[in-house]
Amino acid sequence: MTSPVIVALDFPDEQSALSLVEQLTPSLCRLKVGKELFTRLGPAFVEKLVGKGFDVFLDLKFHDIPNTVAAACDAAADLGVWMVNLHASGGRKMMETARERLEGKSHRPKLIAVTILTSLGEADIHEVGFSGTPGENVLRLAALAESSGLDGVVCSPLEAAAIREQADRDFLLVTPGVRPASAALDDQKRVMTPADAMAAGSSYLVIGRPVTAESDPLGALKEINRSLERE
Ligand code: C5P
Repeated sequence: MTSPVIVALDFPDEQSALSLVEQLTPSLCRLKVGKELFTRLGPAFVEKLVGKGFDVFLDLKFHDIPNTVAAACDAAADLGVWMVNLHASGGRKMMETARERLEGKSHRPKLIAVTILTSLGEADIHEVGFSGTPGENVLRLAALAESSGLDGVVCSPLEAAAIREQADRDFLLVTPGVRPASAALDDQKRVMTPADAMAAGSSYLVIGRPVTAESDPLGALKEINRSLERE
């Protein structure tokens, strides 16, 4: 089976990121490039990873007017990335315009949405004008993303089962907050093991420090992949 693991390349510079990447292969994992690394190293670094054969998730969480987000997604497609994301709270028009723009591309990345950031609690979302609980808003925004034609959402593995219940079978659930039973929690508070997250309905697992901070990252990744094959 192809591994569902996406390794989060949360590094401050190219050398440390590449010294990890050089130990990995595209058959063992995909790679996620976020705002820190992209802002430091730019598109050339993403193209380098794509050139090495990796599926790259460009995690820039676009949120702007429809035309600007669609143009940014178009640029991401030209970099050859496998997945790109935006904020569902940017609205239906923004999501539909981005999806339509990607449909015209010869290489079409998967387009997924962030619903409610897991760093926000109930008081935080009320302060910015949302009502209800974070969980209710996650389900509402996931439904909006799906009906706007997006391929999936980023969500906590603890939200995966509820979203899976309301969504189509092929709607992608991309879940960070995953920790092998033996790994440190770091700053993650509510976690699931890789196997439990997959059982809860995850499609892909975003895993950073349990691989990147290990003295033997390749061994740690292989052990995670083995734990999934055992299921
Ligand atoms: O090191 P760790 O496995 O905690 O890394 C998780 C990755 O997923 C990081 O890149 C983090 O920014 C991202 N992420 C997260 N929780 C979210 C959204 C994204 O941990 N709710």
